[in-house]
Amino acid sequence: MSARRKVTVVGAGNVGATCAQVLATRDYADIVLVDIKEGLPQGKALDINQMGAVLGYEPSCTGSNTYEETAGSDVVVITAGLPRSPGMSRDDLVQTNEKIVGSVTEQVVAQSPDAILIIVSNPLDAMCHVAKSVSGRPKERVFGMAGILDTARFSTFISWETSASVKDVQAMVLGGHGDQMVPVVSATTVGGIALRKLVADEKIQAMVERTAKGGGELVNLMGTSAWYAPGAAAAQMVDSIMLDEKRVLPCTAYLEGEYGIDGLYMGVPCKLGPGGIEEIVELDLSDDEREALDKSAEAVREVVGVLSS
Ligand code: NAI
Ligand code: 2OP
Repeated sequence: MSARRKVTVVGAGNVGATCAQVLATRDYADIVLVDIKEGLPQGKALDINQMGAVLGYEPSCTGSNTYEETAGSDVVVITAGLPRSPGMSRDDLVQTNEKIVGSVTEQVVAQSPDAILIIVSNPLDAMCHVAKSVSGRPKERVFGMAGILDTARFSTFISWETSASVKDVQAMVLGGHGDQMVPVVSATTVGGIALRKLVADEKIQAMVERTAKGGGELVNLMGTSAWYAPGAAAAQMVDSIMLDEKRVLPCTAYLEGEYGIDGLYMGVPCKLGPGGIEEIVELDLSDDEREALDKSAEAVREVVGVLSS
């Protein structure tokens, strides 16, 4: 039996398999990949293991259609559910994915009552509410991935616009994971210099809009939603928890008064460590950004209002 710790990824589709693949290359944990489709998680786990012989990591990924193998997981990433098709918003997925995320959460916590849950399924903010309510786990241990992806999109556009390495772009996208998300321009720098000093306002506005509609841009190109950046983003959160990195990353956290928002999951900067969300960091926002965050909260509340419980 392996003495390594365990990470489970539920949903062996595009995002889940990418997340498992990225985690496998990190080589610090055993990975269990679960899906309802027979053969799919087993096949993808086998393929990921065989890639280890090429890239040089241990073959310790297991695929399963049931949850016994997931018992005692430290972190569980939930990607199960339908993705968007062209013409669909993330919110169109709410009823179908509520049932899927609810049933997955129930089965996950039955096997791993202490696991930290990272939700990825859309509509993300609402699905975090479902997982929290079904699991009964504290808010520090149930949260979502979206902000890292949205920030990665914004950072990519900034890197292209400024011809600077993406590694030197410091950005943060907050709010709900919908078209009302809030790229925080006031806190965005390239090599320590404020973005507003480097790029004209109308170009910044175009990048902000492209970021907010970034998920839709990919759906229109591919007929389904993105997976490479989302899978890697979820893995980055797992790393920070499992390796006690204390990264400050934009995560979808349950707010109780922070940023003036109460009783709602929203994207905010969070310090992630073995306890899950160890701190919510409050940025100084401009008046416009604060107003945009309030609008984004209203949009999230509307979707949460559609949930059956
Ligand atoms: P996909 O269709 O490739 O994979 C989803 C997998 O979930 C399928 O293999 C399916 O069999 C499985 N599944 C369905 N019901 C299940 C159940 N009850 N138990 C276990 N597995 C089940 O979809 P993809 O592209 O991987 O997206 C997954 C979800 O993640 C979607 O809801 C998508 O909208 C969301 N997403 C969220 C992002 C974010 O930033 N939060 C970014 C990208 C996708
Ligand atoms: C994305 O932003 C669909 O939420 C997914 O790509």
